[in-house]
Amino acid sequence: MRFTVAIDGPAAAGKGTISKGVAAHFGFAHLDTGLLYRAVGRRMLGGTDPVTAAQELSADELEQGDLRTAEIAQAASKVAVIPEVRSALVDFQRAFARRAGGAVLDGRDIGTVICPTAEIKLFVTASAEVRAQRRYLELNAKGSDVTREQVLADVRERDARDADRSTAPMKPAEDAVMLDTTDLNIQTALAKAVAVIGEKLPTAR
Ligand code: CDP
Repeated sequence: MRFTVAIDGPAAAGKGTISKGVAAHFGFAHLDTGLLYRAVGRRMLGGTDPVTAAQELSADELEQGDLRTAEIAQAASKVAVIPEVRSALVDFQRAFARRAGGAVLDGRDIGTVICPTAEIKLFVTASAEVRAQRRYLELNAKGSDVTREQVLADVRERDARDADRSTAPMKPAEDAVMLDTTDLNIQTALAKAVAVIGEKLPTAR
């Protein structure tokens, strides 16, 4: 069976947790496409040209070290505006999306650019304050000394850069199902996502 679930949305909206939960529930493979841009961003911080880094990127790099730092998130959103960086990462993502057994990809442009024919598309949002609070708790639990204010500023800055770029800007696909998680806990958000996807699944089998 080929079945692609595209999950997009702004920073720290809960895409990662929902995607992992959906993948576990249906037995699908999961690709966090943000990690690709983060890995390229990390290489740029180390002095490598971002286009070269994207062209040379290997799956192993996604597993090495902690890519989920605030500094790497900013670098990721800077390299993500470069069209050549984005195009170098397309084939890998599309191949992953069509693997046998089903796949969940989360990012910013999965439903619009990478997998416009995905069987189901979700756009996960939440207020900037709630997203910043969730990300603050996550970073804090890892021992990072960022403040709430810094995290909120970072989230707002990245959202603006991601939404305003000319290549593959972050926006809901016309046929995306919107899921606002501002007032939802993770179990409820995941249950809603599973229900929406479950409705589409029988016709695909
Ligand atoms: O986890 P969080 O939502 O904070 O970020 P992420 O999904 O790891 O993505 C980091 C950055 O990569 C984003 O701010 C985007 O600039 C970029 N990105 C993108 O442009 N396209 C994607 N499909 C995924 C991420």
